[in-house]
Amino acid sequence: METVVVKVGGSAITWKSKVKAARVDAVKAIARELRKASSKARILLVHGAGSFGHPIARRYGITTSSGGAHGVAETRLSLLELSYMLLKELNEAGVKATLLSPMALMVARRGRIDKIFTEPIARLLDHGIMPVLHGDVVSDLEACFTVVSGDQIACRLAVELKASRVVFGVDVDGVLDERGGVVRELSLSRLSEYSMQQKAPDVTGGMAGKLMEAKAALEAGIPVVVGNAVKPGVLSKMICGEPVRCTLVTL
Ligand SMILES: Nc1ncnc2c1ncn2[C@@H]1O[C@H](COP(=O)(O)OP(=O)(O)OP(=O)(O)O)[C@@H](O)[C@H]1O
Ligand SMILES: [Mg+2]
Repeated sequence: METVVVKVGGSAITWKSKVKAARVDAVKAIARELRKASSKARILLVHGAGSFGHPIARRYGITTSSGGAHGVAETRLSLLELSYMLLKELNEAGVKATLLSPMALMVARRGRIDKIFTEPIARLLDHGIMPVLHGDVVSDLEACFTVVSGDQIACRLAVELKASRVVFGVDVDGVLDERGGVVRELSLSRLSEYSMQQKAPDVTGGMAGKLMEAKAALEAGIPVVVGNAVKPGVLSKMICGEPVRCTLVTL
């Protein structure tokens, strides 16, 4: 069975322009999609922080300074609420999923994952359990703490675990051109031709940051797609590598 890394974005599971507002119906829809796809692929799930992370991390300056211990605790407590809600919906939908805390599995250096312990993740996959991680506050060897995005974690793990595909599920149908149409194939070498305006707060670079992270997976020969996580049928098809309206990212 193929191993597929799925990142469901905070844009899909939360209302990103608010603070700590979950999109419960979207989470339920995503849980159904993951249930459908889980019979055909070994899925490693990473969820974004959305409005449970970015506004709080930004308020404490975790990305720009050492953050304070208080900011770290508060940001991670908020993230845990979102993880709990997602995990509950997954298990209710019949997905055997369990949470692994990224902070306990890795350390970063200047915002980039430096060392990562992947064995617990691989073992869960081997035993038919869906590991769930998330964008997190991580200890940084040079800056106390840093935010490591779910996008970075997803692509790094895809490389480490030799995944067949990385699927980014977001609240839009893919990478959009200036007229709002889906770019069906996007070469990273032509990224500057597209506008990447970020309305909601995102401390890790929004769509542009996500696409930059994709580079590591692409360089390892792992295909990357970006598409709608919430629309029925789309996420499961992307996971299974079936044709559906989304963006295929290339080098
Ligand atoms: N050209 C573009 N095409 C598609 N989306 C774009 C584009 N430019 C900006 N965006 C924004 O990027 C967002 C997706 O990136 P963002 O990082 O905000 O979400 P996410 O990764 O799902 O959230 P999180 O970081 O919390 O996991 C979309 O909601 C969209 O508003
Ligand atoms: Mg983001």
